[in-house]
Amino acid sequence: MASSAFTDSTASTSGVIYRQYRDESDLPTVMHLIDNELSEPYTIYTYRYFLHQWPKLCYFAYDGDKAFGTVVCKMDVHRDHMRGYVAMLVVDKAYRGKGAGSELVKMAIREMIQNGCEEVVLEAEVSNTGALKLYQALGFIRDKRLHRYYLNGVDAYRLKLLLPLTEEQEALLRLKEQNCVSVDASSGSVLTASTQIEIKA
Ligand SMILES: CC(C)(COP(=O)(O)OP(=O)(O)OC[C@H]1O[C@@H](n2cnc3c(N)ncnc32)[C@H](O)[C@@H]1OP(=O)(O)O)[C@@H](O)C(=O)NCCC(=O)NCCS
Repeated sequence: MASSAFTDSTASTSGVIYRQYRDESDLPTVMHLIDNELSEPYTIYTYRYFLHQWPKLCYFAYDGDKAFGTVVCKMDVHRDHMRGYVAMLVVDKAYRGKGAGSELVKMAIREMIQNGCEEVVLEAEVSNTGALKLYQALGFIRDKRLHRYYLNGVDAYRLKLLLPLTEEQEALLRLKEQNCVSVDASSGSVLTASTQIEIKA
């Protein structure tokens, strides 16, 4: 279960500066960091798919002016609720083991919580001990094993984190169940009945 780890917003820890993705000028930084570390080859279209739609779900870790880590995520309506997805996470080898990877994921999850996500999922190679331990420490559980999930033929674990809703979000969901409000799938924002009427008019 998610804990207060996701409610404490830390902009800087141990001299490391964390910041959100700004615009397309950050794209080469994301691509450089990820292409160097992940086994899956991604095209620029894949990066743009995530970064154009969910720029608020991408974060960087900096040592001075050197970016050494990044996380790329998205969130969507899944069945009847909002679900976050961690697509890519990397930390440069020279900076590992100092908590930056966890901090990047926590920042993205805080943003997901603020947008009403009820769960977060991702896939990790079954042999990726470091990533599996990182996510386990954050409360993720192994949901299922995906046979030959990656292009290199390796299996993956689907990991899942259930998020607690705030009282306000729970109240909004109750209203939604009573058809008083609906959630905008693209932004995750909540539309009240009155705003929907205005949009249709
Ligand atoms: C996975 C990765 C992002 C971790 O980044 P990091 O900054 O080193 O992670 P953290 O320092 O926040 O580690 C958090 C916890 O994860 C665990 N962990 C991380 N890397 C580990 C490793 N290589 N071996 C064992 N445990 C590890 C530890 O339990 C650690 O907790 P601790 O500080 O109490 O020991 C980094 O190793 C990486 O970029 N790997 C290559 C890309 C990758 O595999 N991405 C994930 C795809 S799903």
